[in-house]
Formats: sequence, C-alpha cells, structure tokens
Amino acid sequence: MSAAQRRSAELEELIRQDPGRFRVLTGDRPTGRLHLGHYFGTLHNRVRLQDLGVETFLIIADYQVLTDRDVADRLDERVEDLVLDYLAVGIDPARTTIFAHSAVSALNQLLLPFLSLVSVSELSRNPTVKDEIAHSRQSAVSGLMFTYPAHQAADILFCKADLVPVGQDQLPHLELTRTIARRFNDRYGTGGTPVFPEPDALLSAAPLLLGTDGTKMSKSRGNAIPLAAGADETALLVRSAKTDAHRHIAYDPEARPEVSSLVLLAALCLGRDPHEVAADIGDKGAAALKATVTEAVNEYLAPIRERRARYAQDLGYVRQVLRDGNEIANEVAETTLGEVRAAMKTLY
Ligand code: TRP
Repeated sequence: MSAAQRRSAELEELIRQDPGRFRVLTGDRPTGRLHLGHYFGTLHNRVRLQDLGVETFLIIADYQVLTDRDVADRLDERVEDLVLDYLAVGIDPARTTIFAHSAVSALNQLLLPFLSLVSVSELSRNPTVKDEIAHSRQSAVSGLMFTYPAHQAADILFCKADLVPVGQDQLPHLELTRTIARRFNDRYGTGGTPVFPEPDALLSAAPLLLGTDGTKMSKSRGNAIPLAAGADETALLVRSAKTDAHRHIAYDPEARPEVSSLVLLAALCLGRDPHEVAADIGDKGAAALKATVTEAVNEYLAPIRERRARYAQDLGYVRQVLRDGNEIANEVAETTLGEVRAAMKTLY
C-alpha cells in the first residue's frame, strides 16, 4: 500500500470520529456531462463525506478548461450541466458550497504570490502536466498549462481546506499545494502561526470502470455512459460495449478486463458482490450480461435522472445555487487574502 493510501485510511478513521474538524475541497473541470466513471469514482464519495457532516467546498474549475484548448465552447452551459449533475446525485447546496473559481477574484489573486514560491523547473516536471501536454490537441503549450497546478493550490488554500478527495493523477498537484503552503508559512508566517494548513489528499478506493471501447471511461474518448443519458441511450451504449470471445461470464479483471468492468458496473448498481453477479449469469453469455447491466444501471440511475430532469426545468434555481455559492466563496477568499496581505506586509 502506498504512503498516500495509508494516510487516507488513517484520515477516514479520523473523519468517522469527528467529521466537524475537517474542511473538504474538491471539484471538476466543466468539460461536459458527468458519467458513471465519475459517479462511482468520486461523486458518490463526495455525497458520502457531505452526509457524514464534513464541511465541503465544490469547485467548478472553469479556467482550467482552457489549459489544453484555445476556446472553451459555451462554458456557461457546461457549468450549468455540472451543477445539474451535482444536484441530481445528492449534493446539497445547504451543506456544500458549489462555486466557480473564475467568479472569486480574491482566490485568483493568491496565484501571484503562490507562483513566486515555485520554480519553473518544478512546474515543468509535474508528471500530470507532462501527460496532458502529450495528449493536448493544441499546437502550442499555453502558459496556463504550466501554471494551473499553482492555480489549483489557490483553489484549495483559499478556503484552508485540509482534505482533498482526488484520484491518483492529482497527487502531484496536492504535493505542490503542500509545498506552496509550507513555503508561504516559512517565508511570511509570524510568531510560528502558519497562514495555511498543509492539506492531505484523500484517495478513495475508486473502482476502475472501463468505457464501451475497453479503455478508461472518459468524456473526451466518447466511450462513457453519461449520468444524464436516457434509458434507451444507456441500452444502446451498453450493447455496443466491447466484450470477449468466451461465453462463460466470470469476474476476472486481470484476464478479462472488458467483461469484468461490465460485471463490476452491474454489481455497483445492485450493491452486490461482482463474483456473485458473474456466477448468476454464468454460461448465458455476453448478451445476458449486457441485459443485466442495462437493467441495473437504468434502475439505479432512475431517481438521479428524475431529479436532474426536475432541476433542468428550473434553471433559475440552478443559477441561484451557483450565485449563492460564489458569494460564500468570495467572503472566505477575501478573509484569506486579507491574512495573506497582512503576512506579506502589503496592507496599504
Ligand atoms: N484538476 C482537477 C481535474 O482535472 C479539477 C480541479 C481544479 C480540482 N481545482 C481543484 C480538484 C482543486 C481538486 C481540488 O479533475
């Protein structure tokens, strides 16, 4: 088990004992409708933490969309879609502050002192950024691509979050956030009182769901089952999913990744053990497996889809949720920026 996983297990225990002592910040880039991979990977866990009573900030990272593309088409609609998905899965705006980072000026101002605390070589050796550059469709790498991890540190530190539930790919950004917090405190902290906490990543045991083509489920690969898909669309997507040549259905993620991912998806929706789900299908083959998956997904998502459709009828409410969240985030960010100014002796 890696150090980050061990630490996450310890943190889970502390959360159970005293959820009120933690503040969570996490979020997404608004690049399209969320899918089942997001749901079982992160959304489910966010709702769990919220329901345990952990104070939660949920950031919609709209500037971050511009890291690997020149134009972000209709960001406003993407942001609305994201808020709808959040509300549909059970994020409760009374307990979770949903906001967009572009709407919070004081958060963005933190980027300048933060950038002064990191070197160009630290920014350019970030493995996640390197990977994103390798897959970028831009002809030239933008300055935002190199600096967005420092911006993400501002996303996290403006509200002094101490827990950041993320996937493995975000660990380099968390490490940079901790470095920035530590350096800021060392350089500007007075009387040993740190301005920023050093936040921890909270890794959840996220199941790896494959998309319909057998590679990781992802918005950009067109292989995902969106939460908002209709029952018929879901049936078509599941029917198109890649399987293999063996008739007997078994749960064996190493040897049979595509079939096992479908079994796992059904099991997650049914709240059952994947081996048992596979055993029930046995020799009935891939068609029977897909029928089981379609029914399980559609049943599981029915209330989520129903809520989403209801909120979609009331976009005024959806926008108000975001405006309210932005207002709270602005207050928090102003307070933090005030402390930063005081520490840096730039209060004029
Ligand atoms: N980089 C994250 C992603 O691509 C999104 C994000 C932006 C984020 N700011 C954040 C996640 C702060 C956690 C904390 O998914």
